[in-house]
Amino acid sequence: MKFREYKIGSRMFGLAFGLSMTITLLFPSFDLAASVSSEVGLDKQLAIGWDSGWQLSDPTLLGLNKPLKILVKKDPKSGKPIEPAIYAYVYPAGTSLPNGVIHTANLGHGVEELSIKDGRITEAQKKDGAVFIIKHSDHLETFEGKGHPLAYVENATATMGWTPDDVIKAAADTDILHAGSGKTMFVREGCWWCHTLLPEQTQDWQVFGAPPMLGDFNGMSPTSFGSDRKGPDLLHVGSRNASREWMMLHFFNPRLVQPHSIMPRFDYLWGKVDAKGDKIDFAKWRKEYDEYREGQRTTPPDVPMYAKDSEIRNLIDFVVNLK
Ligand code: HEC
Repeated sequence: MKFREYKIGSRMFGLAFGLSMTITLLFPSFDLAASVSSEVGLDKQLAIGWDSGWQLSDPTLLGLNKPLKILVKKDPKSGKPIEPAIYAYVYPAGTSLPNGVIHTANLGHGVEELSIKDGRITEAQKKDGAVFIIKHSDHLETFEGKGHPLAYVENATATMGWTPDDVIKAAADTDILHAGSGKTMFVREGCWWCHTLLPEQTQDWQVFGAPPMLGDFNGMSPTSFGSDRKGPDLLHVGSRNASREWMMLHFFNPRLVQPHSIMPRFDYLWGKVDAKGDKIDFAKWRKEYDEYREGQRTTPPDVPMYAKDSEIRNLIDFVVNLK
């Protein structure tokens, strides 16, 4: 046996391994705080919450432990109208706080300092829950905000005494978006096999909307950029189509609205019952749909209205919130 080859081989391996480790560990000196969260970035991480991918506290990706994005039309404490209405990001007690609140450096220079000092975000407690809102600074000259005021996070529980319960109670159900849980559905159902959340700066731009900017994704996990597209980019889909009715038809069976669509149907996300609590008869629906396809009916069967706490509601909330 020729020991020499092994010695040469192991040294070459050591060299290659050592070099690649050096490159991996020492060279990437990218400073997270160098990318300053944009307002879009703050909205994303506050609306989606800590983590919408696989995690120990939600191993089967049910969308548990997620915040709510709520349109607030009146002050939940005083009842005074708020005009124009603002969005609050509500973290009920026990919900993991967003990335930027736990690791404030993710917010980036300026936004971090403002959120801590003026926004009091470090006072937020997971066990009590918290309500966040996005504020705009008026002292941009202090930081390197290039011509536009920095947006930062405010802990409305600390600054105004808004509790998660107050805000939820004061809101109509239609003003509540379960976008955080919906993102988990997006990840779990593998929508990213076919859809990106990253329009490119090519002709894409004209069709799918502007490509994102540095700072639009701070603190988001996962980002779901995707690498391959069989369907359209969805980053701004809510701007071109915010119709819940269309989304309902399309998710129940994409062929109802796009006859040649290759998108699978997601009717099982409706669960067992519809909005009225009646059992959904999928077999009957399918039979009537087949009759329609064969020309024995002039219209397809109606798509059942989803229940308030169904998974499809979360997913549609997430999709229409992609603006
Ligand atoms: C097998 C590939 C595939 C998968 C998986 C898939 N889609 Fe699609 N999707 C498409 C294609 C192709 C289209 C365009 C045709 C159509 O509208 O059905 C589309 C269209 C859409 C549209 C309309 C886009 C627009 O520009 O108006 C939305 C919204 C959408 N998909 C959401 C989803 C979501 C959410 C999921 C996961 C639950 C999903 N899709 C899973 C292929 C897919």
